[in-house]
Amino acid sequence: MKKLFVIGIGTGNPEHLSVQAVSALNQTDVIFIPTKGEEKSTLAAIRKSICERYISRPFRLVEYPISSRNEAIGDYTQRVHDWHELIANNYVEMFQQAPDDATGALLVWGDPGLYDSTLRILDSARSKSSLQFDIKVIPGITAIAALTAAFAIPLNTIGNPVTITTGRKLRAGWPEGADTVVVMLDGEKTFADIVPDGLHIYWAGYVGMEEQILIEGPLSVVRGRISTARDAARARHGWIMDIYLLRRR
Ligand SMILES: C[S@@+](CC[C@H](N)C(=O)[O-])C[C@H]1O[C@@H](n2cnc3c(N)ncnc32)[C@H](O)[C@@H]1O
Repeated sequence: MKKLFVIGIGTGNPEHLSVQAVSALNQTDVIFIPTKGEEKSTLAAIRKSICERYISRPFRLVEYPISSRNEAIGDYTQRVHDWHELIANNYVEMFQQAPDDATGALLVWGDPGLYDSTLRILDSARSKSSLQFDIKVIPGITAIAALTAAFAIPLNTIGNPVTITTGRKLRAGWPEGADTVVVMLDGEKTFADIVPDGLHIYWAGYVGMEEQILIEGPLSVVRGRISTARDAARARHGWIMDIYLLRRR
């Protein structure tokens, strides 16, 4: 493989793809699609439908199972590091099988630069092998952009910074001095456990997708409703992706 596009595809709405992304897809010979589990199979189906919709030349789909994290490893950083190494090894094996003159593509959810390790893992795959492909990144619409657009709100207040964090970090404490905090990767409903005083929440499940759910209001008033809606949606679909913005008023 001589070149790899890393294409941001947005957050599940096929219309999130940029013209640049469609152009890159149409220069691609092999598209690598991760599969595994209920969430991943839905996401794989979305990736495949994007290919069918936008690519007007012959291409090959290569599906590969995403390795699972070893939850027995106690230390979080070590657990993630080991998991990334497994994926890097998968990449090396898979890319070695592609023809030397082929152009490949990985379709990355949202934007490849935001809470996504594909670029880090690709660096590791290149450093541990003799593979010498070029990487070209095509930016995508992030879950943050989809969230603020869905609620028609600006991300920041005038002249102020924004903190982007995870549920795990928010649980450890409100970021000092912040008036806007965006929370991603929160499998534990941290919004339900923090002190809600003075906070307004804009919460979205499956933002940009057909299943999209939007709830907003003072955190103390709506957090129960969000929690119930999140549980019900997760039970119905078998998986959920959610994101929220907290604004201190
Ligand atoms: C591994 S990160 C990927 C972020 C992605 N690279 C981006 O640019 O948005 C996954 C997290 O993004 C958020 N996310 C991604 N897609 C989403 C969607 N359609 N609806 C709600 N949250 C989403 C969730 O917080 C989820 O836990």
